[in-house]
Amino acid sequence: MVKYWEIETEIEKGYLYIMCGIVGYVGEKNVAEVLTKGLSSLEYRGYDSSGVALLADGKTKVYKAEGKLQNLKDLLATKESEIKTANVGIGHIRWATHGVPSIKNAHPHTCNCGKLAVVHNGIIENFKELRAKLEAKGCVFQSETDTETVAHLVAQKYNEVKDLKEAVRLATKELEGAYALCIIHQDVPNTIIATRRNAPLLIGVGEGENFAASDVPAIIEYTKKAIYLDDNQVAILKADSIQIFDADNNEVKQKVELLPWEPIALSKMGYKHFMLKEIHEQPDVIRNFLSGKLHSATEPIKLDEVKLDKLKLKNLNRIQVVACGTSLHAALVGKYIIEELCEIPVDVEASSEYIYRKTVTDEHTLVIGVSQSGETADTLTAVKQSKARGSHILIITNRPDSAMAREADSLVPVNAGIEVSVAATKSYVAQLMAFYALALHLAEIKESADKDEIQTIKNELLLLPQKIELLLSKTDKIQKCARMYSSSKNFIFIARGINYATALEGALKLKEISYINATGYPAGELKHGPIAMLDETLPVLSIMMSGKVYEKILSNAQESKARNARMIALTDSTDEKLDELFDYVLNVPHVHELISPIMAIVPLQLLAYHIAEFLGKDVDQPRNLAKSVTVE
Ligand code: G6P
Repeated sequence: MVKYWEIETEIEKGYLYIMCGIVGYVGEKNVAEVLTKGLSSLEYRGYDSSGVALLADGKTKVYKAEGKLQNLKDLLATKESEIKTANVGIGHIRWATHGVPSIKNAHPHTCNCGKLAVVHNGIIENFKELRAKLEAKGCVFQSETDTETVAHLVAQKYNEVKDLKEAVRLATKELEGAYALCIIHQDVPNTIIATRRNAPLLIGVGEGENFAASDVPAIIEYTKKAIYLDDNQVAILKADSIQIFDADNNEVKQKVELLPWEPIALSKMGYKHFMLKEIHEQPDVIRNFLSGKLHSATEPIKLDEVKLDKLKLKNLNRIQVVACGTSLHAALVGKYIIEELCEIPVDVEASSEYIYRKTVTDEHTLVIGVSQSGETADTLTAVKQSKARGSHILIITNRPDSAMAREADSLVPVNAGIEVSVAATKSYVAQLMAFYALALHLAEIKESADKDEIQTIKNELLLLPQKIELLLSKTDKIQKCARMYSSSKNFIFIARGINYATALEGALKLKEISYINATGYPAGELKHGPIAMLDETLPVLSIMMSGKVYEKILSNAQESKARNARMIALTDSTDEKLDELFDYVLNVPHVHELISPIMAIVPLQLLAYHIAEFLGKDVDQPRNLAKSVTVE
């Protein structure tokens, strides 16, 4: 087993293949095209090398390329005559944290005779032991990957049992760790064997064709029907049939589900990048979230998703929120709003820190896991640990079909629609909405907040989509500001109170897509160190939404002005004096202080977007990042 303290070393050796995306297809369509199109839609899972294996003219043919998927597409375009008869194939897109991505290490991997090919997402934790055993039996390894052990192991079992599904079933019994696998073999035409354990894989059910994929976008253009494989199940896919077996080789009944996605959701709809499209979708994301939950400020919020009964809710003594990245920032706003309205202490912790220390949660703690993808390994582990200690688990996610959702006692889907851009935008706003709904729901049950205040917040939430639309209709000033500051090497975001999280999230957006070193600080902390960095080259963006800390942050901004920093304000105030203090004032429509994080993040998303776009960066697929991080 790779222990967490060994992971660093494993990663350094280049062994860990972090997210990766898999596609499999059997049918009459152009196989290479279906596979590469599918892989394109999985690029959010990683994109440092890719490959496909096809059965054409009775032979297993493997093609791989380093770098972006386009390189594989270009390669396949030159091989048309070799692959035109193919009617089955598997594909893979890879993302590794360390170690140079190479053709040798890219998937698919094959056995020594080259007849069997495998694509894999996950980590085979006992691959070293397996590799030693296989080498002792004469297998020659071509790569440093854990995946290649699967190719040799299955091939060996196949030689013994002469049945590919059986070979896979028996081989996977020897595997430790996580895997989603698709396997083809030259002697077993028109067939893909697919299986999974602790890694996502779904089967797309077509007419005269079938698919396997890591995620819905890879198949949604072709079918809306899918089967989610359970852990350890093995599927045999042929063009006209699907059979599924459990780990003990019993055939199991198939549960075909209708996918809620529309292919249109995957188009840029005229925007230059998915990120820009997703920013502009935010007003509808808010409307969508509220529909069915809140119609008027005078009615109680309806959050039937929370399955804790009233007594248990009243007896909660603590809430613990675990999350990573942008979701962690949403959780920080959640803490503020829940503590403000519900009188329950809330702790927020990065999942990766939470899971390796002694944490004290029990049956009176509500544990909330927040995750856009619902697959983030650290958060999933944190949630499982707390569940084992008896806590009620509430999951806020954009993927109600995810691994985390399956752990939930209460599941709050945020329904933001698929988010393609790696940098999270609309899913953040949707997560914030979930926290507001939860805080209002708890406050109404506990009667812990002033009724008028609750009504005001509800009213403000209902008005929010139009106000954000207004902001999105006039973005020239943000674009100008972006151009002006795009050459900065560093950036500071300061805020106080509920918008401290906005400063962190604004800085994260800028780092992620423009690679500019940006940091968010609580404005009061500026003078305790960071102020030493200020000079005429450093932009300081002050988030100054009206409310109880407005004046405080104004004085913190003045401290920056006195050190000659370049001054930017983001505010809903119309105070003309701000023009004297700041070089740039980015105005947003006025909102209630407690709602302001949802309004204030939008111009910061746009600022990051336009800076990155102006610098010519790869906005939707920033280097070194992946949208879904499925190992710890
Ligand atoms: C990755 C992404 C981030 C995301 C984080 C948590 O690092 O690049 O954008 O915020 O994972 O992901 P989750 O799906 O759990 O929200």
